[in-house]
Amino acid sequence: MHLLSILDVEDKLEELVDKGIAIKGRRYSEELKGKSLAMIFEKSSTRTRVSFEVAMTQLGGHALYLSPDQMQLGRGETVEDTAKVLSRFVDGIVYRAFSHEMMVKLASNSTVPVINALDDLEHPCQIVADLMTIKEKKGKLKGLKLAYVGDGNNVCNSLLLAAPIVGMDIAVGCPKGYEPGMLEKARELAKEREHSKVEVFEDPKKAIEGADVIYTDVWVSMGMEEEKGEREKLFMPYQVNNALVKNAKEDFIFLHCLPAHRGLEVAHEVIDGEHSVVFDEAENRLHAQKAILLELM
Ligand code: CP
Ligand code: NVA
Repeated sequence: MHLLSILDVEDKLEELVDKGIAIKGRRYSEELKGKSLAMIFEKSSTRTRVSFEVAMTQLGGHALYLSPDQMQLGRGETVEDTAKVLSRFVDGIVYRAFSHEMMVKLASNSTVPVINALDDLEHPCQIVADLMTIKEKKGKLKGLKLAYVGDGNNVCNSLLLAAPIVGMDIAVGCPKGYEPGMLEKARELAKEREHSKVEVFEDPKKAIEGADVIYTDVWVSMGMEEEKGEREKLFMPYQVNNALVKNAKEDFIFLHCLPAHRGLEVAHEVIDGEHSVVFDEAENRLHAQKAILLELM
């Protein structure tokens, strides 16, 4: 089994979240003793890389960080051959890729589980940690409203798929033309379940109205650097600041997958304010990765 999309864990998403919460107090175990995890990162990472590596150590296993520019992959060896060879050595592969197409190629040629550590389409592991944080802070997921404000990117896509699966309402506030690609799929999931709403608004205030959880992410994702100037101008009205969060519930919590840019997608008064849980969310990456590794490996 691979974890390339939130859809791959559709029937066990909340179970993974609960497992992450349950094992949080247990630092060390030997459950993955003797197992090795290869981690290929085509893009930068702080949280994902460190949390997977530490999770493997604390579970008794071993992780290898592989940078494509030091692998034959960076000198023209195909991703298919790389997958076939690594499968003979290791018990799982974590992959952060520029394109989802490469992710699928790696997974379809691998005989060991492949875990998406972010690509241009999704960031599923992040969302397991996010849901853990929401459940810990609010005591439940079902019936809550999450407002995502900003770019309809990989993080937004995975949140959109996850919300109807766990019974949360989700409203996205984003400029026209920057809507998330997974919108239709999320609407289908919501329709099948008939207990959650999926909405998109151009006006961020409307998205945030009555929200229990406010979420934002960078306006310029990795690989989009050449659009920086244009995006920063266009997204400015979507900054999560005190004026905007007034429209949420009084006891809302603020999440951001990090890294954050204070003064751009979020004002420092919000990310460093009393509603922010971003560092608990970051810590939960470690516990969520353990739950994911135990499920897949
Ligand atoms: N949130 C997240 O994935 O962070 P990194 O890019 O540091 O891994
Ligand atoms: N959307 C961001 C997430 C970083 C964790 C990116 O892809 O760069």
